[in-house]
Amino acid sequence: MKNEKMLKFDFNNMFAENVGKKEGFEKEHLKKLDSKINDAYNFVLKNRGKGMMGWTELMSNQDEIVKDIINTAQNVRKNFDNFVVLGIGGSALGPMAVFTALKHLRYNDLCERARGGPKFFVEDNIDPERMQALLDVIDIKKTMFNVISKSGATSETMAQYLIIIDLLKKYLGKDASKNVIATTDIARGNLIKIAKAENFKTFYIPDGVGGRFSELCPVGLLPAAVLGIDIKMLLKGAADMDKICMEKDINKNPALMSAALQYLAIKAGKNISVMMPYADSLRLMSDWYCQLWGESLGKENDLYGNKVFAGQTPVKALGVTDQHSQVQLYTEGPFDKVITFLAVEKFRTIFEITRGCEDIPDVGFLGGHTLNELLDAERIATEYALKVKNRLNYTIYLPEVSEYTIGQLLYVLQMQTAYCGAFLGIDAFNQPGVEEGKNATYALLGKSGYEKKKKEIEDAPKKLKEYMM
Ligand code: PA5
Repeated sequence: MKNEKMLKFDFNNMFAENVGKKEGFEKEHLKKLDSKINDAYNFVLKNRGKGMMGWTELMSNQDEIVKDIINTAQNVRKNFDNFVVLGIGGSALGPMAVFTALKHLRYNDLCERARGGPKFFVEDNIDPERMQALLDVIDIKKTMFNVISKSGATSETMAQYLIIIDLLKKYLGKDASKNVIATTDIARGNLIKIAKAENFKTFYIPDGVGGRFSELCPVGLLPAAVLGIDIKMLLKGAADMDKICMEKDINKNPALMSAALQYLAIKAGKNISVMMPYADSLRLMSDWYCQLWGESLGKENDLYGNKVFAGQTPVKALGVTDQHSQVQLYTEGPFDKVITFLAVEKFRTIFEITRGCEDIPDVGFLGGHTLNELLDAERIATEYALKVKNRLNYTIYLPEVSEYTIGQLLYVLQMQTAYCGAFLGIDAFNQPGVEEGKNATYALLGKSGYEKKKKEIEDAPKKLKEYMM
């Protein structure tokens, strides 16, 4: 029987029949790509569960961990008023996206009873004003801090940790460690050493799970469970999507199809990938996707060491808000984009538009409809406007926003990224560019072992006064 809760994919507007021959692809394009499609499929098949593709197994190898997470989360929900994630990049974007998708859109503003759990904060920046603002609104004694860092070396996260542990020790003395949970690598890095020394409850980020592929391991599952999200259902959604993403036939495998079409688009000069959900709950899915797509595919070298400068710049947009800001550019600007719409078929609320102003037809026509209808009509209208202007776009339909569909969405986008990395012949799972920035920061702050890097920075071309005003 057909599973009504599976995501659906509409690739019509990537093809010539709908967006014209000049921009759109024809079946012939896919046929010509056939051997590359096979190679990409075999690459993922061969590498899944190995090396940096350990994330494909998270749905089946975490039974004990899930139990531990749920027990820990129950304790946090009972005993703490706030849950604060200290992390950045892959250690923050997933928790934020899942929280926004699955909890009340004004969760922290709800009363305690309506929330049913602690207030939730993800501190993914080191702006001093933001740190102060957080400390102004939480009672640190009643706050659980989840320090998340795979490397255990990220300056931003560790700086936050140093500030927080000092405060906790001031307020709680030897009980400070009860307010910290560390999520990190089991053996590598400093956070694990600190966690052991301080006796923190610790969860591990498995080998083969990089930051941007980590939402379905304790990085994302613990914050989600603390929020009362059904993490088993998230994993079930991902597991069911995994089966589809391993179909050999590209016409049955949406991750392989979207990766192939994006690859063709990149080759045709479409260097921008816009993610445009038509739902506020999915707003931060775009942020998560931007990191996934940008950091995975943006690579200087291919797997054989050739300079390729690969990648497709991800851009986030929100329907309908950005119809009044970005869509003019998308419909009439350069032919350099692929737009991915996220559409929700059934919202958790139906909101009627009150009848009124019936003597003013331009306003009166709205009454009697619902906001749901208006939103949907605007999405379809935008899709149409793009299509008639021959702009490549496709839509992912979520039957509803739930643990099950969000698990699917996260997973299909991860698989799409893995397939597209294989098409491009690059390593989609490393981030040498990010590491370079991290190393330069260490050097600038005088970390020992980075003297050579500091010298390199000092010897770089100096800024000239003539270009400053
Ligand atoms: O995807 C990645 O690997 C990065 O964005 C990292 O998640 C980010 O740099 C944070 O690293 P860490 O978790 O080691 O602190």
